[in-house]
Amino acid sequence: MKVAQRVVKITPSLTLVITSQAKKMMAQGQAVVNFAGGEPDFDTPEYIKKAAIKAIEEGFTKYTPATGFPLLKEAISRKFLRDNKLCYDPTQIVVNCGAKHSIYSIVQALCEKGDEVIIPSPYWVSYPEMVALAQAKTRFVNTDPGNNFKLEPKALKRNITAKTKLLILNSPANPTGSVYSKKELQEIIDTVLKHKLYIISDEIYEKLVYDGKKHVSCASLDKSIFARTIVVNGVSKSFAMTGWRIGYLACADKEIIKAIGNLQSHSTSNPCSISQKAALVAISSAKDALMQKMVKTFEDRRNCMMEGLDRAGLSYIKPEGAFYIFCNIKNTGLDSVSFSEKLLTKKEVAVIPGVAFGRDDYVRLSFATNAEKIVEGTKRIHKFLNTL
Ligand SMILES: Cc1ncc(COP(=O)(O)O)c(C=O)c1O
Repeated sequence: MKVAQRVVKITPSLTLVITSQAKKMMAQGQAVVNFAGGEPDFDTPEYIKKAAIKAIEEGFTKYTPATGFPLLKEAISRKFLRDNKLCYDPTQIVVNCGAKHSIYSIVQALCEKGDEVIIPSPYWVSYPEMVALAQAKTRFVNTDPGNNFKLEPKALKRNITAKTKLLILNSPANPTGSVYSKKELQEIIDTVLKHKLYIISDEIYEKLVYDGKKHVSCASLDKSIFARTIVVNGVSKSFAMTGWRIGYLACADKEIIKAIGNLQSHSTSNPCSISQKAALVAISSAKDALMQKMVKTFEDRRNCMMEGLDRAGLSYIKPEGAFYIFCNIKNTGLDSVSFSEKLLTKKEVAVIPGVAFGRDDYVRLSFATNAEKIVEGTKRIHKFLNTL
């Protein structure tokens, strides 16, 4: 066998397959409405770009410490205190090449053959593949649309075995837009603590919450859970910096931090020095007005998409955060891949099949695009449904 078993089993991301098909059609001049994207359509703010240009001009173009340069880690430490009431020393923080890389590194550092990892389903596409790459086993725990697809403590308890090591929690969530309340998190962490599990808390959509709701980090609930949580965040979604590849993680356990640092030092070395300088400016100068404007724009777009879907007669889970709407397509009688392919070829609207997230009776629509396209795209979906 040429390619290692461990790697050969990894499937290409369905998200990318549809996105590249849509991009190809656009390149051929077709007027595709793209609801498949997973990134803000805004440009990176000017003050952040300038910091990167300055970094290049000043020669900040060499290796930095593998886990990130000290000023950035200090700024991240202050951010955790300011935004999440979490007190991490900079030595308890590792800067990685995107939040995806942060999660990959944690799973590699914590899990091995024989371990089980609990992933609430629907889930972000990369989690199970990362678990498989660490040769551990995923236990999916189904969640109920009636409970906004949030993990219920009873279901969590039922799935814990002697081998369970880790729970991956994502709030605000991709693909459902669900946001866990403090009370809901408390019930989950009680179970996690009882069974001495670890939690990865993926908080990459932290800033994108709507209707006046507030994001709560589960690590902030009490001291015991603080010690067992690895918080993941980054600049990709909050500052429209997906291409810069800066994510970070924080953990009170120095042994885990050391292991992740060692792993990084022998794989990627440091994250891009120029991007680190840009991230420093993004994270330390919390430009509240700019952020509020971006969140308001996303909230308006969410409302616009919900109105369009209501007119089309598709049901969905009202997103409280992130920039996705998870739509139920069960009544169409199509599976999610056929639905997405037909919608793309017949009406030139790109969406992501829900099967990529563990639900073949749903599709994911992204509202990280302008209102005009949202109105046009939902109209086309309406027409498409009438042809079925
Ligand atoms: C839930 C979730 N976690 C992590 C990431 C990765 O973010 P990054 O671009 O910083 O690697 C994404 C990106 O789509 C995501 O949706």
